[in-house]
Amino acid sequence: MTRPAVLVSRRVFDDIVDRLRQHFDVTTNPDDTVWPQAELIARLQGKVGVFITGSEKIDAALLDACPDLRAVCTMAVGYNNIDVAACTARGVVVTNAPDVLTETTADFGFALMMAAARRIAESEHFLRRGEWNKWSVDMFAGSDVHGATLGVLGMGRIGQAIARRGALGFGMQVVYHNRSRLPADIEATLGARWVSKEELLRQADHLVIVVPYSAASHHLVGAAELALMKPGATLTNIARGGVVDDAALARALKDRVIAAAALDVFEGEPQFNRDLLDAPSVVLTPHIASASIPTRRAMANLATDNLIALLTGGEPKTALNPEARKR
Ligand code: GLV
Repeated sequence: MTRPAVLVSRRVFDDIVDRLRQHFDVTTNPDDTVWPQAELIARLQGKVGVFITGSEKIDAALLDACPDLRAVCTMAVGYNNIDVAACTARGVVVTNAPDVLTETTADFGFALMMAAARRIAESEHFLRRGEWNKWSVDMFAGSDVHGATLGVLGMGRIGQAIARRGALGFGMQVVYHNRSRLPADIEATLGARWVSKEELLRQADHLVIVVPYSAASHHLVGAAELALMKPGATLTNIARGGVVDDAALARALKDRVIAAAALDVFEGEPQFNRDLLDAPSVVLTPHIASASIPTRRAMANLATDNLIALLTGGEPKTALNPEARKR
């Protein structure tokens, strides 16, 4: 009996490929090449399932060119690279990888926020440049994290995990903005207060952005929003490039509209706005918030569980459009 054919679009852990090989005829990408769209489509011919990451674009044109495809399983939690409605319309089930990365990603968001507040990257660069020749009273003096006001923009799973760290670990006052308010008992546990987006920007000493990217969240924070923030405030983006207007942010940092920023995600990454390199007080990391070994393994295993379930008659754990299966 021929086994279903699946594609793993990027390099993953060897044991993940071994798990998939127990069920499927697997094509891999050991060189980890980022295939142009036409090549991804060519490699998907005859494949019923695909294991992807946050980098591959699954849109209507690709789906139309790959009519055998039934399952799209991403190891990312974010799925702005996938047109889920187009998948549903064609009976293609999409799964993502929520929950398993929440705490790891929140740790990293908190670390970036602290690095921005306490000017860790900036001062390290100064030391490496050999410029440290004396102590001085306000050398790299930043702002405090403990006791400050934490503003969380987007209060999903990761936002709540960051709020918990701030409130319980650092005695922070937590304000948040989200389309929907949290139930009162969760607000009470997190010590979190819902405010309008404008109030959030005005009140936060440290703003952490954790909203999913969509047309509605494109440039959610731009020049006008930055202008509402406190001059001593920091901004941390661990959501997606495009939620923050990076050009406006670079300008705001240069003009000292806010004190510091930390970015793990960028518009058009892995390209990014080079003005950020010249901006003062900015910490830049290459989209690694979920990158602990155990968490990346858990994400890959969850995508694998889903792909195996979908193509062997089982129930996927985290389907985004389970209704597509009935088509
Ligand atoms: C990472 O950005 C993810 O969406 O998992």
